[in-house]
Amino acid sequence: MNQADNLQKLVNSSKKAKTKFIAITSGKGGVGKSTISSNMAYLLSTFGYKVAIFDADIGLANLDIMFNVSVEKNILHLLKNEAILEDILIEINKNLYLIPGDSGEEMFKYTNNQILENVFKYPTILDDMDYMIIDTGAGIGQFTKHFLEIADEVIVLTIPDPSAITDAYATIKVCSRFKERVHFAINMTRNKDEGKFIFSKVKHIADENLRKGFSLEYLGNISNSNIIKKSVQERVIFSKEYSGSLATRDLINILKDFIFKVESRKVDFDIDRSFKGFLTRLVERF
Ligand SMILES: Nc1ncnc2c1ncn2[C@@H]1O[C@H](COP(=O)(O)OP(=O)(O)OP(=O)(O)O)[C@@H](O)[C@H]1O
Ligand SMILES: [Mg+2]
Repeated sequence: MNQADNLQKLVNSSKKAKTKFIAITSGKGGVGKSTISSNMAYLLSTFGYKVAIFDADIGLANLDIMFNVSVEKNILHLLKNEAILEDILIEINKNLYLIPGDSGEEMFKYTNNQILENVFKYPTILDDMDYMIIDTGAGIGQFTKHFLEIADEVIVLTIPDPSAITDAYATIKVCSRFKERVHFAINMTRNKDEGKFIFSKVKHIADENLRKGFSLEYLGNISNSNIIKKSVQERVIFSKEYSGSLATRDLINILKDFIFKVESRKVDFDIDRSFKGFLTRLVERF
């Protein structure tokens, strides 16, 4: 390493992390959280943001399957000192990293502040991320709730099915106790109007019943699409393989709106915006 490299390292290490933590959740399972979060992360990286995606849900279709990569070690190995960060991080493409997760309870049985201090003693590539997308489990279990509490922004995803909407509302209701706002998106719609109609109904009920000052914000809809279905089966990222498809355009529209909202908000730099800071806040809740 030459002097310039050393200097660069020094500069990087003194730079404050500025990551925004975005959690994607749902009431009911199987509504497309992993599909949408992986494609969101991919698109954000193509917009030029540095993005990490954290698999906080060990569901049926994990993020490693979405990205068609194989995972040997995950965050649990890192926290148990059985792996270093470089061993578990998977570079999907330039500006996009996957952090393989493990079931929540297991993960936090082993973790405390001292462990985090040791694991993240030195600056890491994750300190540089603009966004961290967190794919959470469905429903409002204790572990998921902690993630939602400490995330900067929460996106609740649903599908038009009435029982999924009811469950999404239950999640929104819980979030309204500790969040100023929740973003809402509807997957697998027939068309734009169906999404808007569902949102107006849910918004009406939320405005009538939830805490004043809480706002439910609509991000938009993603069409029901055979291209998405096929892409998930083939383990390809639909917004990459089918960049001109309606589904991709839907998601880009959602993202543009979302980024505009998020970027125009003041970021709280009183908290440590690194992954270590995030995990520390998480651990302190257990
Ligand atoms: N817009 C869409 N159109 C058609 N099929 C879709 C769409 N979005 C997702 N799917 C399909 O729905 C299935 C479930 O998606 P996914 O695994 O992303 O859901 P999930 O919410 O992460 O589920 P879990 O709660 O189990 O984690 C996938 O097989 C995928 O192909
Ligand atoms: Mg999933």
